Amino acid sequence: MRRIVVKLGGSVITKKHEGVREVDQKVLDILSSEISRALKESALQVLIVHGAGPYGHVPAKKYGLAEGFKSVDQIPGIVETRLGMEELNRIVVSSLANAGVNAVAFQPSAAIMLDDGRINDFDVSIVRKMLELRLVPVGYGDVLTDVRTGFKILSGDQLTAYLAKMIGADLVVMVGDYDGVFEGEPGESEQIKELTRGNIDSFEFGAGKGADVTGGFKRKLEELLELADAGIATRIVSGREKDFLYDSLVVRKEHGTLVKK
Ligand SMILES: Nc1ncnc2c1ncn2[C@@H]1O[C@H](COP(=O)(O)OP(=O)(O)OP(=O)(O)O)[C@@H](O)[C@H]1O
Ligand SMILES: [Mg+2]
Repeated sequence: MRRIVVKLGGSVITKKHEGVREVDQKVLDILSSEISRALKESALQVLIVHGAGPYGHVPAKKYGLAEGFKSVDQIPGIVETRLGMEELNRIVVSSLANAGVNAVAFQPSAAIMLDDGRINDFDVSIVRKMLELRLVPVGYGDVLTDVRTGFKILSGDQLTAYLAKMIGADLVVMVGDYDGVFEGEPGESEQIKELTRGNIDSFEFGAGKGADVTGGFKRKLEELLELADAGIATRIVSGREKDFLYDSLVVRKEHGTLVKK
């Protein structure tokens, strides 16, 4: 049984780059059906994490939530961010369920405590049991309580990497708006086939487009290199190309970029 953690990026399931707080329902439904097909056709356990797009990044930025507790004026921002993320999660879980995936919401803020932004306490046995039951838990990045700073943002990327380690995933697949990592301007420069600690410093990565409170693209790659150090590779593929996610799940064809040791 292969175990794969799929991260559905806010950059592909929402209209993040237009700054519009909307889901790209067509793209989301296609991705859901590809996951469904892969689950039916091969011996797979899948765990899903989705990003925030404007549903989370916009209120989190407005209230400065990434810095942790500074004043009570920030507290309504927690409410707004949670509401936004739960709304987005509901849309993602519904899309998956409609496609025939046994998807269930998993609320990180009810199960995880942070310590200065890093996962400190998390009973992963709940998630493991769900997987055993062939359920597909769907978690997400959100604002969480933090023992040190009151609250902090848990990025979907950090949650993905943590869960992948804890369930001993065979692979992580990150779906985004570009097919992998590019040497310079995304989509306009050479695509990098394999990214490692050995070659990352030879590239210059710019900042991503659209509001992002979790450190942007470089931070994402750092998270993935740490995961690769632990022996778990990540494939970054486009969610806008037909079957790229499916191909990655059933290991039929290689697309995008592989981040590995
Ligand atoms: N060299 C690069 N190669 C590929 N993408 C890049 C590169 N440099 C910057 N990016 C940007 O990184 C973005 C992906 O990261 P981003 O955090 O914005 O998306 P996400 O993780 O899908 O969204 P969310 O954080 O909401 O889940 C792409 O949309 C792209 O604009
Ligand atoms: Mg991001």
